[in-house]
Amino acid sequence: MGNGEISLNHPAIYRCLLRDMGIDLPQTSSRQYAEWPGFREESFAKPVFWLAISRFPRTYMPEILGLNLAMELSGVGGGYRRAGAALEFYGYSTLFVDLHNTIDNVATGHSAWAADAIDTYLADLPQVLGPEGVAAAWERIRAGYRSLNRLGNLAAGLYAAPRTRVPANPARARVLTRS
Ligand SMILES: [Fe+2]
Repeated sequence: MGNGEISLNHPAIYRCLLRDMGIDLPQTSSRQYAEWPGFREESFAKPVFWLAISRFPRTYMPEILGLNLAMELSGVGGGYRRAGAALEFYGYSTLFVDLHNTIDNVATGHSAWAADAIDTYLADLPQVLGPEGVAAAWERIRAGYRSLNRLGNLAAGLYAAPRTRVPANPARARVLTRS
């Protein structure tokens, strides 16, 4: 969220990127946002799933822990790098994907925190639930992890979607195309 600093707020950074692309979205809390014709209907599937499961943190704790790890890992390395290359190709800021590629890193970033959260959760379970309970909880964590991509992982594809646009820097574009 940017810890109160709007310049670090990820939705604000993403809105800036969209504005550079000529897209000025209505306020997120507005009716116009919900009905904005530029959204594809399926774009809401994953956010609605996240919002829905987040309403039940106790009931779905194992699934949420797995989902959280999958979310933090998704894009780190490959996906964000490809998205960054596509954004750079078309002359847009790569700040949004650069931020996530660093913040979500697996050594000390959000992905590491997510793995630690799972370890912490599992550490106390044997005394409470016994071995079978731990195995069942682990299966639920795995189900939560897998649930992220049940709805499709389109992030990199969406960034790379405007392929018909003319690159801002044709010389750079030729280099990227060759690699
Ligand atoms: Fe993250």
